[in-house]
Amino acid sequence: MSKAEETGTESISHLRRITSCSERDHWSAKIPNLLTLSIVVAGASGDLAKKKTYPALFFLYQNGFLCKNVKIFGYARSKLTDESLRERLRPYLEKAGDTNRLEEFLSRCSYVHGEYDGDAGWSGLNEVLSRREGDRPESPAGRLIYLALPPTVYPQVCAGLRRHCAEVATRAEPGRSWVRIVVEKPFGRDLQSSEELSEELGRLFPEEQLYRIDHYLGKEMTQNMFVMRFANMFLSPLWSRTYVSNVQITFKEDFGTQGRGGYFDAFGIVRDVIQNHLIQLLAFVGMEKPVSLHPDDIRDQKVQVLRCIKPVKIDNVVLGQYTAAHGEPGYLDDETVPRGSHTPTFASTVVYIDNDRWAGVPFILKAGKALDERKAEIRLQLRETPHFIFDGNPHTSRNELVVRLQPDEAIYMKFIVKKPGLDTEPIISELDLDYSSRYPDTVIPDAYPKLILDAIRGDQQHFVRRDELRAAWSIFTPLLHAIDRGEVPIYPYAYGSRGPAEADALRTRVGWVQNAKYDWKARPDTPTSRGSSARL
Ligand code: NDP
Ligand code: BG6
Repeated sequence: MSKAEETGTESISHLRRITSCSERDHWSAKIPNLLTLSIVVAGASGDLAKKKTYPALFFLYQNGFLCKNVKIFGYARSKLTDESLRERLRPYLEKAGDTNRLEEFLSRCSYVHGEYDGDAGWSGLNEVLSRREGDRPESPAGRLIYLALPPTVYPQVCAGLRRHCAEVATRAEPGRSWVRIVVEKPFGRDLQSSEELSEELGRLFPEEQLYRIDHYLGKEMTQNMFVMRFANMFLSPLWSRTYVSNVQITFKEDFGTQGRGGYFDAFGIVRDVIQNHLIQLLAFVGMEKPVSLHPDDIRDQKVQVLRCIKPVKIDNVVLGQYTAAHGEPGYLDDETVPRGSHTPTFASTVVYIDNDRWAGVPFILKAGKALDERKAEIRLQLRETPHFIFDGNPHTSRNELVVRLQPDEAIYMKFIVKKPGLDTEPIISELDLDYSSRYPDTVIPDAYPKLILDAIRGDQQHFVRRDELRAAWSIFTPLLHAIDRGEVPIYPYAYGSRGPAEADALRTRVGWVQNAKYDWKARPDTPTSRGSSARL
């Protein structure tokens, strides 16, 4: 009897083969043993690289998530040396507080100077990468190339990479080595330009090698939405038009453009935040359960839901631009903003998912800069109880399930209970899962380390697929063109306010109801920045 027959492994694997419908069923992300990992940060001299990319790599290195055999190569046109790059990065790496293994990390960072067009720079880079891969010819090799560059140069950069850096130099068995390209938003300005960019990149690298970052997909609570939705039976029946009256997805910043107005003005808040970050959150709220955890099964479901959304109607939009107040400058006072700009810094848009689960439920996507607070959250407001037998107003006692992404991750449910004591009066209270008190010793990493680690593991689940991008742009492109033509009014709002009053009128018109005010008291030992009473 063979070993396999003895242990029954053959029959089990045979059984797996015949019961499995798809190779996706057995998928798992892994890092091959003994991988020679080279990470290239193209645009290493820039802002994103020093503020996000290198600190994320440092975090991963410190915590033992990068392979033993890793080297990080900065690449840009600036004439830096290994040492000057390290000195430039040092203060940003020190900012994280924990400087353990900082020198060790920096010693693995070096710099290659080169142009983005032409061949010399890229072939020089390839020589450096191939040399180290050639030193361990039997080991698989991975090249992660992170484009911390303006998208205008992506096509020429990808063409250079294709010509010179797309093949690893090892003899390890095929399929274990890889080359992956991480690209940053913005992916175009509208449907057409995004498709043109996708087309150009798609001619150079297949979708499996392209990792489009939307950093909201790396946030703890975005990823938690997925688990929460599909692992809790009690939520399953609630999650539809039968019980949900409306969904609000909100992004607020309590500061203005602060010198980044030049970049921002070319895009505006709809392109900068709503079309990407908020629509991704909407996809997680609206999607159906995928058949497996394979990244494409998950992304198939996200695309499905996005394709059910018709382009947003101008009647369902309120735009705003902040003005000077409380000693803070208005948007037009930012010297990097063109005079008289009509770019919106605030938008509230209402979209509908036309499928059986969500028909008629408004999804209110609201984003703004220079508002009264910094916050990102998803809020599902349930319908009221049809036959309310208690004292009080059923219309202002709606259950709300809130998933707060930032600041201070939390999930809470507004919940009606009996007022404690001799009364039977119903009051609003909450079931509260505040992460800082429930998981006090857990460090929640920033989105970038998570996403970079996923890319190294070959997990595209939290990266935007081309058809997802197309569906997202389709929803907003007619509106964006109307804004660009100046056809949509832009209301002023004061710096530090809640945005234009018209936005509140819009959400009330589509069905959102302001709950009665109630007091939320943090437990005395809870370190949280949430105030002592929550605005309902
Ligand atoms: P930068 O404008 O600082 O550009 C990064 C590098 O690209 C520069 O150091 C420069 O390198 C090179 N570069 C700049 N302009 C050009 C040009 N016209 N042609 C060729 N090369 C150019 O961008 P950021 O670092 O701020 O951002 C990089 C990308 O990441 C952008 O797409 C941005 O939208 C995105 N992003 C940025 C965030 C941030 O916090 N800053 C946050 C989220 C996304 P050199 O001249 O040395 O070659
Ligand atoms: C970026 C936008 O994508 O996200 C910025 O370009 C915005 O305008 C930022 O400030 C917000 O990110 P976070 O993680 O701070 O909410």
